[in-house]
Amino acid sequence: EDPAKLAAFEARVAADEFIEPKDWMPEAYRRTLTRQISQHAHSEIVGMLPEGNWIGRAPSLRRKAILLAKVQDEAGHGLYLYSAAETLGTSRREMIEALHSGKAKYSTIFNYPTLTWADIGAIGWLVDGAAIMNQVPLQRTSYGPYARAMVRVCKEESFHQRQGYEIMMHLAAGTDDQKRMAQDALNRWWWPSLMMFGPPDADSPNTAQSMRWRIKRDTNDDLRQKFVDITVPQAEAIGLTVPDRDLAWNDAKGGYDFGAVDWEEFYAVVRGEGPVAKERMKARRDAWEQNAWVREAAAAHAEKRARKAEA
Ligand code: ACO
Repeated sequence: EDPAKLAAFEARVAADEFIEPKDWMPEAYRRTLTRQISQHAHSEIVGMLPEGNWIGRAPSLRRKAILLAKVQDEAGHGLYLYSAAETLGTSRREMIEALHSGKAKYSTIFNYPTLTWADIGAIGWLVDGAAIMNQVPLQRTSYGPYARAMVRVCKEESFHQRQGYEIMMHLAAGTDDQKRMAQDALNRWWWPSLMMFGPPDADSPNTAQSMRWRIKRDTNDDLRQKFVDITVPQAEAIGLTVPDRDLAWNDAKGGYDFGAVDWEEFYAVVRGEGPVAKERMKARRDAWEQNAWVREAAAAHAEKRARKAEA
C-alpha cells in the first residue's frame, strides 16, 4: 500500500473526517468494517426470531402492535446495514451466504430462547439497552455510511428499550407470579447481555486497531461498565434484583464492581453451540429457501421492465 495514501487516510481519520465509499482506504480497514457491519446486519436479522416468536402470543392488542412494529424495525436495520456494508464491495448475497454457511458471526445474545412474555420485556430493556450503549458512539464511527445508518437505528432502539422497560415495570408491579416471571427473565438475560459487548479488552483481537481507525469509539470493557452503571439503578427502581452477588458500588471509580462473566460460555456460543443456535440458523435458511420465488419474481419483473424501457 502506498505510504503517502496511508498517511493521508490516517490524517483524515485523526481529524474525525468521514471516509466515504469511493475514498481510498487500506484493505484491512475495508475488511474489518465489512466484517463488523455485516455481523451487525446479521444480528438484526437473526434478532427478529426470538421476539417474532411472541407476536402471536402477545397479551393484548396494544402489546402486539408495539412488538410487531419493533420486529419490523429490526428488519429495517438489517437491510440498512447490508446496504452500508455493500458500499465496501461485498454483495448482499455473499454476506447472506456467509451467514447461512455458518462462516459469519452474529451476536451471541440471539442464541438464547424466549421462554415467557417477560423475556420480551427483558430483551427490550437489556438487549436493546446494550445495543444502544454500543451504537450511540458508532454514530461517530469513521466510515460515513455506517455512521449515518446508526443515527436512525439509535432513535428506533431507544423506543425499543423503553417499551421493554415498560413491560418489566408492569410485570414487576403486578401479581406475585408476574413479578416472579420478571425476575426470572432478568436472571436469564443479565449475563448474556453483558457478553454482547464482546470479550474483555485484553482478549479482544480487533479493539486496538479499530480504536486507532475510529471504527470503534469505546472499548468493550468501557461500554460494559457503562451499561452496568446505568442498568442497575433501573432494576432497583422497579424492585428487581440483578443476579450478581459481587455487585457493589465502588465510590473510588464512580461505578459498580461486578462479578466475572462466564467467558467459557461466551466462546461456546460464538462457536455456534448456543442453546437454540441450530434452530436460529435453520429458521434463516428455511426463510431464504422457501421465499426464493419472491426474489425470482422480482428479478423477472425488473428484467421485463428493462426490456420494455429499451424497446
Ligand atoms: N457475539 C458474537 N461474536 C462476538 C461478540 C458477540 N457478542 N462479541 C465479539 N464477537 C466476536 C467478534 O466479532 C470477533 O470475531 P471476528 O474477528 O471473527 O469477527 C471476536 O469475537 C473478537 O472480538 P473483538 O475483537 O472484540 O471484535 P470487535 O472489535 O468486532 O468487537 C463488537 C465486537 C463490540 C460486537 C463490535 O463488532 C461492534 O461494536 N459491532 C457493532 C454492533 C453489533 O454488531 N451489535 C449486534 C448486537 S445488537 C443488535 O443487533 C440489536
